[in-house]
Amino acid sequence: MSVLHRFGHRVIQSVEQLFNRIFGNGWNPWYHLGSLSFFLFWIVLFSGLYLLIFFETSLSGAYPSVERMTHEQWWLGGIMRSLHRYASDGAVITVVLHASREFFRDRYRGVRWFSWFTGVPTLWLVVLLGISGYWLVWDAMAQYIAVTTAELIDWIPILPGSMVFNFLEGNVSDRFFTLMSFLHLLALPVAMVFLLWTHVSRISQVDFMPPRGLAVGTSLALLLLSLIKPALSHGPANLSQIPEVLHLDWFYLNIYPVVDRFGAGTAWSLGIGITLVLMVLPWLPPQRPKPPAFVTLEQCNGCGQCAKDCPFGAVSMRPRTDGRDVSHEPTIKNSLCTSCGICVGSCVSSNPYRLSKTTLRSGMDMPHASIDQLRTDLLTRLQQLTGPVRVLLIGCQHGADLESLQDQQTAVLSLPCSGMFPPSLLDFALKRGADGILITGCRDGDCYYRIGNWLVDERLQGRREPHLLKRTDRQHIRVYRAAAADQDQLRQQLLALQGELRCAR
Ligand code: HEM
Repeated sequence: MSVLHRFGHRVIQSVEQLFNRIFGNGWNPWYHLGSLSFFLFWIVLFSGLYLLIFFETSLSGAYPSVERMTHEQWWLGGIMRSLHRYASDGAVITVVLHASREFFRDRYRGVRWFSWFTGVPTLWLVVLLGISGYWLVWDAMAQYIAVTTAELIDWIPILPGSMVFNFLEGNVSDRFFTLMSFLHLLALPVAMVFLLWTHVSRISQVDFMPPRGLAVGTSLALLLLSLIKPALSHGPANLSQIPEVLHLDWFYLNIYPVVDRFGAGTAWSLGIGITLVLMVLPWLPPQRPKPPAFVTLEQCNGCGQCAKDCPFGAVSMRPRTDGRDVSHEPTIKNSLCTSCGICVGSCVSSNPYRLSKTTLRSGMDMPHASIDQLRTDLLTRLQQLTGPVRVLLIGCQHGADLESLQDQQTAVLSLPCSGMFPPSLLDFALKRGADGILITGCRDGDCYYRIGNWLVDERLQGRREPHLLKRTDRQHIRVYRAAAADQDQLRQQLLALQGELRCAR
């Protein structure tokens, strides 16, 4: 599985690099696929509300009302219809890419199983919303969908009667159409909101909105597409005739040709099989658990920064239990902790200047990568440097390979996440012999632990506690984030910093 992850991730990284060149890291759609899906749903919702004003929810009124909107009111109703259709199509693309990306980035196992597991039904809900939407137009396509869906339902042995027969006989009632309207306009959207809320309920600082530039660009692209190629209906449904030519929407209706060609049984087996495989994927094989963070109350002042910063909501605050004169203390829910170490970087007592002669103990620490070990490693590696300049390269284990850049001039600290180092460690390194520091990590916008890079930037810019000390010489600190595919660029950045430092001597 890890070979598949590595290969897929490499391919995705190359594509993302191309998009980085066009859009820049900030607006790269690949880094905002979840929030882009949300944004497309907003467009679907608003355009759908407009369509609802003019749409007639009856078998005889549906088709003419859609036609009136499309042709007589093309300048608004028609555009809204096209936006509704194309934003829905776009959502299928972004959701599928989002899920694939989480898979290849190996961000769906272990603690993250919950987001994956709840994502699978959302995917099917999106498809059901699309299918029921096509049904409501009640044109030849809707007729094809209705008859083929009836074939699918008839295949279920426990359901009595023959729906296909009813459709072919033209017995489809207004009431059935009302049921479809209810599903598309109310039941499925409500279920979707509930599922999406569940989907992101175990993560904090959720990226709900794409960056403004990306949102505006996406809206304009959809508008342009709506003007160039407006969404149209087929001819009206006529159950006494079999539709001859249909222009299928492959994003939503791809299961129907499968039913036609191979039968309802095959289509059901395919759908259920894919769903089951997707749902058990987080355990094929399960991720090896890493030891969770732990709290040392004597070192904790109860500030709560760790709880604010944890990307997975694993840290929460509760009333103090050790009788100290502070109101709260953090507590860790082990089942939610990804062992990223971000809470260690958030803790004010991770400051390496504290307790310089004894073991450095922090309010928040990691059993397998303690802050004391980090300080010891930093000092040892800086002392080992013999080159003309001494650079600290600090970053994470999910970006470029840092160890291979270690040499006589470069000390390397590779952390679970770059959000783990407290900013005071940079000042400490400069005071203990480093001439310069290069901070790296996963590519901007692509932090493996979601918000590690953002937290580092916020702390360096003094917008979030614990912030970089005012006295720290920022001239000698650089940030360059790099994925495995950007190894050469990172090496260049390192050489450039070393060169600058040599010249400055
Ligand atoms: C229906 C549409 C969906 C929407 C709108 C959506 C949206 C989101 C958003 C906004 C996040 C949080 C991103 C962040 O802040 O880092 C997220 C996380 C996630 N999504 Fe989705 N998602 C959808 C469907 C899916 C599907 C179908 C899957 C996979 C089957 C999936 C898998 C995940 C996983 C694994 C995470 C957690 C990533 C992490 O922990 O770092 N999502 N989703």
